[in-house]
Amino acid sequence: AEEEVYRASTYAPVNIAVIKYWGKRDTKLNLPTNSSLSVTLSQDDLRTHTTASCSAQLSKDTLLLNGEGQDISSTRTQACLRELRSLRQQLEAKHATAPKLSQMKLKIVSENNFPTAAGLASSAAGFAALVRAVADLYQLPASPTELSRIARQGSGSACRSLFGGYAGWQMGEKDDGSDSVAYEVAPASHWPAMRAIILVASAEKKDVSSTAGMQQTVATSALFQHRANNVVPKRMNMMEKAMKERDFETFATLTMKDSNNFHACCLDTEPPIFYMNETSRAAVRMCEAINKEAGRSICAYTFDAGPNAVVYYLKDDESSVVGTFKSMLGEKTGWEGPRGQAIKALQKTP
Ligand code: PMV
Repeated sequence: AEEEVYRASTYAPVNIAVIKYWGKRDTKLNLPTNSSLSVTLSQDDLRTHTTASCSAQLSKDTLLLNGEGQDISSTRTQACLRELRSLRQQLEAKHATAPKLSQMKLKIVSENNFPTAAGLASSAAGFAALVRAVADLYQLPASPTELSRIARQGSGSACRSLFGGYAGWQMGEKDDGSDSVAYEVAPASHWPAMRAIILVASAEKKDVSSTAGMQQTVATSALFQHRANNVVPKRMNMMEKAMKERDFETFATLTMKDSNNFHACCLDTEPPIFYMNETSRAAVRMCEAINKEAGRSICAYTFDAGPNAVVYYLKDDESSVVGTFKSMLGEKTGWEGPRGQAIKALQKTP
């Protein structure tokens, strides 16, 4: 039993927020200043696969991402591991025969099937997969909600990747973060026509990290105060309703408005932060043109803390949306990153 190796593997999907998380009220616990909502992308397209193992033979905790050793001593990763180990300890205390995995070192091996540096929310899938892999290894009786509370401490947006389909993250009220957890709004099967494409404007690493960007925004932007207190709370209800009713026009309008509101707040900080670039703005204009041509909103762009666009649309509008992008992108430069693809069609059916 001494040499025994214990192992568990899992996948976690990337999620892209349509009501953005931006701003922390507690930087240690990653407690947000507003609630958020996201759509989970299909695991066939963007996901992290993680295997966690432990044995008495290991001499230190290690984390490998796409074959490269990572710093596992970061406060964020340690916070997740500490929580998981303490839950395992409780389990071992109750079951005398349970092997003492909590005392062994961990070996965590992760693979992303997309470029990590491309600013495609890799940390969300990464922490979600890490937390679930270790929880499975430890055979913890933890629900996705409880795991989301732990993954949130790794990366805020990671808590939403514990749920498929349409996920929310309620900001919560408590100082200990116990009520700041993710929840399912609807499973992916609820709206099987939903599709997304990613327009990779640049595969470079973002220049202002989300942590630094949020800190600066909270400290210096008055527009942000308005967003967190007045704008987002109203949109949360409207967006959840649009998701539940499969109302794409409302979903699209709110998605674009929220992305623009978030980037306006970034521009309002001192010094201003520019995540979108000229290529990003070209994508905005293309979406606007496609929607104008259609006479209704058939596509919706959204941008995270980087220049790449995620565009949501419905299956029936595939040819209008993707076709137009393909023909228009053909004439534009700046879309081809060294490791990205100019255009990536994502199938979202479960
Ligand atoms: O999870 P973080 O700390 O990387 O922050 C993510 C911030 C956004 O992607 C811009 C918005 C979101 O809700 O995912």
